[in-house]
Amino acid sequence: MSYNIAIDGPAGAGKSTIAKLVAKKKGYIYVDTGAMYRAMALFMLKESVELDRVDLIAEKSQSADISIRYEDGVQCVFLNGQNVNGMIRTEDVSAAASKTSVVPEVRKKLTALQKKLAAEQDVVMDGRDIGTKVLPNADLKIFLTASVEVRAKRRYDELCAKGERCNLEKIQEEIAERDHRDMTRDEAPLVQAEDAILVDSSDMTIEQVADKILSYVK
Ligand code: DC
Repeated sequence: MSYNIAIDGPAGAGKSTIAKLVAKKKGYIYVDTGAMYRAMALFMLKESVELDRVDLIAEKSQSADISIRYEDGVQCVFLNGQNVNGMIRTEDVSAAASKTSVVPEVRKKLTALQKKLAAEQDVVMDGRDIGTKVLPNADLKIFLTASVEVRAKRRYDELCAKGERCNLEKIQEEIAERDHRDMTRDEAPLVQAEDAILVDSSDMTIEQVADKILSYVK
């Protein structure tokens, strides 16, 4: 039986950094489900699908072949045979993913892929609905959060470090908007699973959060 750790939470809470670190320390595979939703959104943008046309997104999603491979321990997302890791971290794709990920057909397709990965190996999987929908029987469930202000500041620092121009207030507004959309959607909304442990990372370092999570791993 594989050991599964589910980490859910809002954008910018530090899920991927923490999940990667926990996976490394345990020798588990890190599965970034957001990257799969991003690849699907990229596909819709490439195909010029209007993002409010749920029917078209549902239909088009059937011709998007999304898969995951690991190269030197790094998760690579393939969209119809092409490694799209370098194309899915833009603000346009973030905004699009938040819209296309509400479509049930998209979720059904990507959830099946995620379940399969977790059944085959020990994983730390992060996302929005991992503890509630994808791996309801996960061995450990963490709901990782942080205040909107802290999350916006982290994103701001990240963009500044990359030399990109950015506006803290605007980032904060976008994060609040994205939270609202992720939490109020009908399909698999972002909620804390009943049996998930709540961890607020606002005043914690990366190491402290990782250690806390590792202390719960049996
Ligand atoms: O975690 P992220 O920012 O890379 O996620 C991108 C988008 O995909 C975000 O709007 C939420 C959505 N998502 C989802 O609906 N379910 C998941 N399991 C992971 C991400």
